Amino acid sequence: MERLQNALNRAREKRGDAQSGISRQKPPRSGGSSGDGEIAVRWAALKPFSPNPRVLQQTRVVSYFAKQQATPFDVMRTKVVQQCKAKGWKRLVVTSATPKCGKTTITANLSFSLARQSDLRIMVIELDLRRPSLAKVLGLKEPHYFAKVLAGQERPEDHLVCHNGNLAFGTNLAAEANSSELLQSARTREVLQELEDYYKPDLTIFDTAPLLASDDTIGFLEYVDAALLIAAAEQTTIEELDVAESEVSEMTEVMGVVLNKCRYTSSGYGYEYGYGEY
Ligand SMILES: Nc1ncnc2c1ncn2[C@@H]1O[C@H](COP(=O)(O)OP(=O)(O)OP(=O)(O)O)[C@@H](O)[C@H]1O
Ligand SMILES: [Mg+2]
Repeated sequence: MERLQNALNRAREKRGDAQSGISRQKPPRSGGSSGDGEIAVRWAALKPFSPNPRVLQQTRVVSYFAKQQATPFDVMRTKVVQQCKAKGWKRLVVTSATPKCGKTTITANLSFSLARQSDLRIMVIELDLRRPSLAKVLGLKEPHYFAKVLAGQERPEDHLVCHNGNLAFGTNLAAEANSSELLQSARTREVLQELEDYYKPDLTIFDTAPLLASDDTIGFLEYVDAALLIAAAEQTTIEELDVAESEVSEMTEVMGVVLNKCRYTSSGYGYEYGYGEY
């Protein structure tokens, strides 16, 4: 832990230097005059999704119910909401240096935890188009291909499902051959902007591919407000975390680092945070 903390401190210092005097350009966000009632109607029109709690338990999604085991994710939720409110962030990427650190598991847990706060509207989009797994983690078997929406070929409402009236998932059941080009395309950004303008989520979370495995996520980072970096205990090396952190911080804000898969935690559950503000 001490080595990890040192690496995080170093990365923080580096980021402080890199940020001074630089302002990033974000795509403009058109306001829109729709009232909350109209937006609620749009969310209510989405196809309802009631996950099977047994499937969620199997896939380590423990935050569906407000039980003791959801507590770490509820703490994460509160920190995420606080930072987003303070900084006006609305788009959050969940990523990691290398595969299998727990990005999708944490995305799903964080989103159910957020959705239990009924005054929030959350949109979760699968952007790991090489190895999509969000649908499987959620137990969604219907043929939803959000990549077709991103490509402008199909309508969002045909591929979005909604839990509880305030948590929408855009999943992709199969891998996409041209994921990098799709994620880098102007069309994808337009579609995401239109989606944001129409549904007005408080936060959109993008589950993404590992940073060091392809250029899919790196190319997309400039579009988002912040990134949550997932590291896996006894798996992610300090060097990998360091590289990933500097890649992310060149393109967007690092919201924090989550240390996942800890075998030894005080809570008895395998999640622990090395979570700091940058
Ligand atoms: N805290 C944890 N403790 C133990 N196993 C975990 C934990 N979090 C996730 N896993 C398991 O690790 C595996 C990888 O998790 P997950 O698919 O969420 O990672 P990922 O980073 O999204 O992977 P990929 O890079 O393939 O997208 C899964 O089998 C998942 O159930
Ligand atoms: Mg994943």
